Amino acid sequence: MSGFITAAYISASILFILSLGGLSNQETARRGNLYGMLGMLLAVGATLLSDQVGGYGLIAIAVLIGGSIGWFVASRVEMTAMPQLVAIMHSFVGLAAVLVGFASYLDPDVQYSGIDKTIHEIEIYLGVLIGGVTFTGSVIAFGKLQGTIGSKPLMLPARHWLNIALGVASIYLGFVFVGSADHAAGLVPLSIMTVIAFAFGVHMVMAIGGADMPVVISMLNSYSGWAAAAAGFMLSNDLLIVTGALVGSSGAILSYIMCRAMNRNFFSVIMGGFGASGGSSGVAADQGEAQAVSADEVANMLAGAQNVVIVPGYGMAVAHAQHPVSELTQTLRDRGVNVRFAIHPVAGRMPGHMNVLLAEARVPYDIVLEMDEINEDFADTDVVLVIGANDIVNPSALEDPEGPIAGMPVLEVWHAGTVVVLKRSMATGYAGVQNPLFFRDNTRMLFGDARDSIDNVFRAL
Ligand code: TAP
Repeated sequence: MSGFITAAYISASILFILSLGGLSNQETARRGNLYGMLGMLLAVGATLLSDQVGGYGLIAIAVLIGGSIGWFVASRVEMTAMPQLVAIMHSFVGLAAVLVGFASYLDPDVQYSGIDKTIHEIEIYLGVLIGGVTFTGSVIAFGKLQGTIGSKPLMLPARHWLNIALGVASIYLGFVFVGSADHAAGLVPLSIMTVIAFAFGVHMVMAIGGADMPVVISMLNSYSGWAAAAAGFMLSNDLLIVTGALVGSSGAILSYIMCRAMNRNFFSVIMGGFGASGGSSGVAADQGEAQAVSADEVANMLAGAQNVVIVPGYGMAVAHAQHPVSELTQTLRDRGVNVRFAIHPVAGRMPGHMNVLLAEARVPYDIVLEMDEINEDFADTDVVLVIGANDIVNPSALEDPEGPIAGMPVLEVWHAGTVVVLKRSMATGYAGVQNPLFFRDNTRMLFGDARDSIDNVFRAL
């Protein structure tokens, strides 16, 4: 049986790697998901067959309860609430690593001595530490994405010193833990460190400014992977180690890519408060008058245009406007208009958010372009439709060096002939920064829910 389990674990690992490979491209993403599901089925099946696993009745009840809750929640979740769901899932992985750490430490059947004991205790300590930070960090990220906690960064005085003090205390407690004579003595430093890890997780994510949340989410994704890998070491489960390392490293790579796309220094983001500098969020009154436009006028502009670029943002997801947008695109293309989509790396609320929505609405992949591929083309564009996007088209990122989003690359839509912004009001976006684009001479505001506005334009066309 152990040979079969090893073979199943190796096959599952390969399927997970194929899954990640598939997910890196839209055309192969479905296949990637399928590989992942098969890998997980194989992994769970093989684990259940292992000699160390008993109590099938209890496992069945747990699977039934957990599975039903998961099914219920996932089938009801709106596309706009997906990032929150992902964040809360990460918190479960973190909590599981903490619980596995304590269980593994207190398990009377686990007996190590000498260097093996030290290694096992270091694994437990690191697993609980990473798991604790992941748990509370993800809960706070959930709150920030859900809107229950404000997106403004919490800037405690001397916060860096606080972080350093928590770090030093954790290292000291680690030495006490590994050197402790018995479980009763070791439980004290382990428990105190757990509380510190929880506090650090809260503080780390609370200190992140709105526009830097994408990096934090992918970082927590990475942490959850490392927490799972640490649990794998504690349980001597190779598959969990491999899977955790895959999630950990792909999350880390994604965080790095996001940092590069946002022109952010990775460590500055983690240390917090990036989105906090400067109070120059530019009040609407400073900027002059925004010019409103009607759906009929927008239809006229589009009818006379040759090159149109559509910039989707979070508001398109909120309004479920992707299907009407797809129809409008098709109609314009049928009339010979060159329509393309410009996707900012952090548009929406999760990586690839816009790509998923557009793929769902059957917009052809070849007209959906990344920011770097299309940013030079705005000068040759007649009309840009900015649909429910705000921060990702904010020129103050380039023009205001003191502003909260300073340095973040944005889609430079203002170089186009006319920019039409579809949103409901003059409200700010996720980063809470006023957008000078709305007050430019070549910008027109089409106020209203994005779906209704697109429907109206479509009808007028
Ligand atoms: P935002 O800057 O959040 O702007 C979205 C705009 O959509 C809002 O200004 C809102 O204005 C409008 N809107 C909302 N509902 C609408 C509706 N039903 N119809 C029409 N408009 C609607 O979005 P963005 O430009 O996509 O930028 C993304 C932001 O989220 C960035 O700051 C990014 O850092 C952050 N973020 C991204 C991620 C990832 S990974 N993508 C994760 C977390 C945070 P009104 O209220 O006036 O309508």
